[in-house]
Amino acid sequence: MTIRAVVRGVGHYLPERVVPNSEFEARVETSDEWIRARTGIERRHFAAEGETTSDLGANAARAALADAGMEATDLDAIIVATSTADLTFPSAATMVQAKLGMRSGFAFDVQAVCAGFIFAMSNANALILSGQAQRVLVIGAETFSRILDFEDRATCVLFGDGAGAVVLEATEGTGTSDDRGILATDLHSDGSYCDLLYVDGGVSTTGTAGHLRMQGNQVFRHAVEKLAQTAHASLAKVGLSGGDVDWIVPHQANLRIISATAQRMQVPMERVVVTVQDHGNTSAASIPLALSVGKARGQIKQGDLIVTEAIGGGLSWGSVVLRW
Ligand code: ACO
Repeated sequence: MTIRAVVRGVGHYLPERVVPNSEFEARVETSDEWIRARTGIERRHFAAEGETTSDLGANAARAALADAGMEATDLDAIIVATSTADLTFPSAATMVQAKLGMRSGFAFDVQAVCAGFIFAMSNANALILSGQAQRVLVIGAETFSRILDFEDRATCVLFGDGAGAVVLEATEGTGTSDDRGILATDLHSDGSYCDLLYVDGGVSTTGTAGHLRMQGNQVFRHAVEKLAQTAHASLAKVGLSGGDVDWIVPHQANLRIISATAQRMQVPMERVVVTVQDHGNTSAASIPLALSVGKARGQIKQGDLIVTEAIGGGLSWGSVVLRW
C-alpha cells in the first residue's frame, strides 16, 4: 500500500489595495513600460496598515478549508511558509492556528524565501508519509511590502503581498504515477550565494527587520538554469518528462524566467499558469496563489499532472510534482 498526500482543497487571499505600476513612477525613476517589458508585472496588492501575514494566511486557510469541506479542527498540522512573519516569534503558523480556532495538533513556520512553499510541501509530504499527520494545511503567506526599500527601483517594483493555501490529506494510492497526490519532490540550497538576495537586517545583527537587497541579473541567471534542472529531476524520479506535464505552476517572479524555464522543459506557454501580471512576486505565497487562481480559472482539473518550481534567497530552490 502506498500513501499519497492528496490536495483536498485550495484557496487564496489578496489584500484589497491594488497598486498599479504607475504608482511607482512618482517615487522612483521607472515607468510602467519598463516594468511590464522586463518583468511582466502590471500590478500587485499591498496589505493595509495593521494587516499582517497571519491575517492573510488565515483568510487563505479559510478558503482552502471551505474548498475541502473541512473544519480547522479536522487538521493535524499547519505549516506556514513565510519570510515576513508578524513577529520574530512565535511562528506565523501558531497565529494562524489561533485565528482558525484550532487548539490541537501542531503548527510551525518554514523559511526558504521564495522557495518556501516547495520546502513546506515537501515537509508536509514527509509528515504524511511517516504517519505523523493525516491532514496538513500548507500556507504560503507574505507581506513583502514591509521589507521593501521604496527608494530602490531595482527591487521595490517587483514584489507584492498575498497568501495561498492547500489542504493535504493522506490517501491510499497504487504506487504508480497515475496516483493523485504528491509524486516527487526535489530540494536544494547553496548558502554561498547569500549575497545575491538577502535582507540587510535581522535579530542577531542589526536588531531591525531590514530591507530586501538583490543582484537581480545574477539571480535571473541562476533561476533560468536551476528551475528547469530541478523540474526535470523531480519528474525523472517518477519516470516522467516535460511532455507528460499538464500544467507548470511556477514561482511568479518574472515572466521572462517563467517562459525561459518552460522553453527548457519543452512545455508550451499555454500549459503554464501565469499570475505574475496581477500579483507581482509574492515570494512563498506565489505558487499556492497560482494554484488557487489556476483552479478558479478552470485551467487546473482533477487528474492533471502539475510541476511547481521555485528559487529564492539562500539560494534555495526546488520542485514538487503532483497529480491534482
Ligand atoms: N525601472 C527602470 N530601470 C530599472 C529599474 C526600474 N524599476 N530597475 C532596474 N533598472 C535599470 C538598472 O538600474 C540598469 O540600469 P543601468 O544599465 O543604467 O545600470 C538596467 O535597468 C538594467 O538592470 P538589470 O538588473 O541588468 O536588468 P534586468 O533585465 O536583469 O532586469 C530584474 C532586472 C527584473 C530584477 C531581473 O533581473 C529579475 O527579474 N531578476 C530575478 C529576480 C527574481 O527572480 N527573484 C526571485 C527570487 S526573489 C526572492 O527570493 C525573495
